[in-house]
Amino acid sequence: MGTIIEPFRIKVVEPLRMTTRAERQEILRRADWNLFKIRAEDILIDLLTDSGTGAMSHEQWAAMMRGDESYAGARSWFRFKERAEELTGFRHIIPTHQGRAAERILFACLDVKGKTVVANTHFDTTRANVEYLGGEAVDIPIPEALKPALEHPFKGNLDLGRLERILRERAGKVACVIATVTNNSGGGQPVSLANLRGASEICHRAGVPFYLDACRFAENAYFVKLREEGHANRSVESIAHEMFSLADGATFSAKKDGLANIGGFLATNDDRLAHLEEDLLILTEGFPTYGGLAGRDLEAIAVGLREVVEEDYLRYRIASTAYLGKGLLALGIPIVRPPGGHAIYVDAGAFLPHVPPAEFPGQALACAFYEEGGVRGVEIGSLMFGGKDPKTGKERFALLELLRLAIPRRVYTQSHIDYVLEVAEAVARRKGGIRGLRIVEEPAHLRHFTARLAPVA
Ligand code: F0G
Repeated sequence: MGTIIEPFRIKVVEPLRMTTRAERQEILRRADWNLFKIRAEDILIDLLTDSGTGAMSHEQWAAMMRGDESYAGARSWFRFKERAEELTGFRHIIPTHQGRAAERILFACLDVKGKTVVANTHFDTTRANVEYLGGEAVDIPIPEALKPALEHPFKGNLDLGRLERILRERAGKVACVIATVTNNSGGGQPVSLANLRGASEICHRAGVPFYLDACRFAENAYFVKLREEGHANRSVESIAHEMFSLADGATFSAKKDGLANIGGFLATNDDRLAHLEEDLLILTEGFPTYGGLAGRDLEAIAVGLREVVEEDYLRYRIASTAYLGKGLLALGIPIVRPPGGHAIYVDAGAFLPHVPPAEFPGQALACAFYEEGGVRGVEIGSLMFGGKDPKTGKERFALLELLRLAIPRRVYTQSHIDYVLEVAEAVARRKGGIRGLRIVEEPAHLRHFTARLAPVA
């Protein structure tokens, strides 16, 4: 059969609330054109994020009933730990309430103050955690990653030439190197096994730890199976295992490829570092056999980490994201190509050439999608990454002005996505009338979450 169907049927439903265009215009006005401030019940199709928004399977819900809520040494902890160890091969697994908690503990224990952390692209919380601790976050994506229309199988790759140069020039000053798989801020694009192996060898020659930000490891492993020479007949589990084997440790948000609504872990093979990390964990997250999670959360993740490497699931997952991407391209709407694993990134800068970066084309487009059909995406552009340079005081702009449409796991069906495409078509018809936005009020940090905006006159 050529049709790739959702490999599940629906047992529990959550009703959606319809709104009228007039209601949505009023809601946008009251939210100051900031989609983070809209109540979720006023959204019809929520593509804000794929993080913690997935649907759990009946096996996961059944496992939750087995949750052992003992403070120390719970059965649920051992089920979680054993699955994480089997999958990753790491000696130490440290549970955390989500990915950014793992990042904070890792960077504190690596003592990044005055040092550099290098990544293909740091996710915003990863960068913020490095900078908060006084480190410098440097991104080294391959040059192809900055050309949205260019097709390349592994746009998430690290620029290995630059990596070697940085490790030479800043010898002794690089705290660690991180490969984000898949590269979220770079379009949800995968990193090849060959690139991970190259980065791992360069780091190890220089004595620098090599980490994975493994949030979407299964989607990355599936892309390796599909696109990288010599891996077509391997299981996704074995590819994922090899990815982890090239690293000294990993941070992980179970809200993505853990198929859970909350949770994460930090992993390492370094006994001394694990000791420091567990001490800090006890101080701020919880005892090392629960790390800020309930026993039932640990159970849901243990099962999710098995289901996520099933190929029927991944085939559907990658095909359904590509379906949205191909549909947008057919409407003449430019996207970051090829379609990523968890999201489609509309090139709002190219789509709305009459809206300059200073008027946030990604945000203007996000608001247009909401007004047109109640669809919520998120701007990844100068509202998120711009702002005043702390050194020069000059306004900074992002490299690309994007609208991310992220697909929650196992939540929406093909007809929901057909509806999103119809909304996109209507937006495309009236795109000449989409006005830019200006900031009325903004906070000091991470301004996109709370800034107040208004249409330009
Ligand atoms: N790293 C990556 C690559 C991420 O995409 C995220 C979260 C994190 C780390 C932090 O994990 O949210 O569990 O603390 N990404 C979400 C998103 C929020 O919408 O892309 P967390």
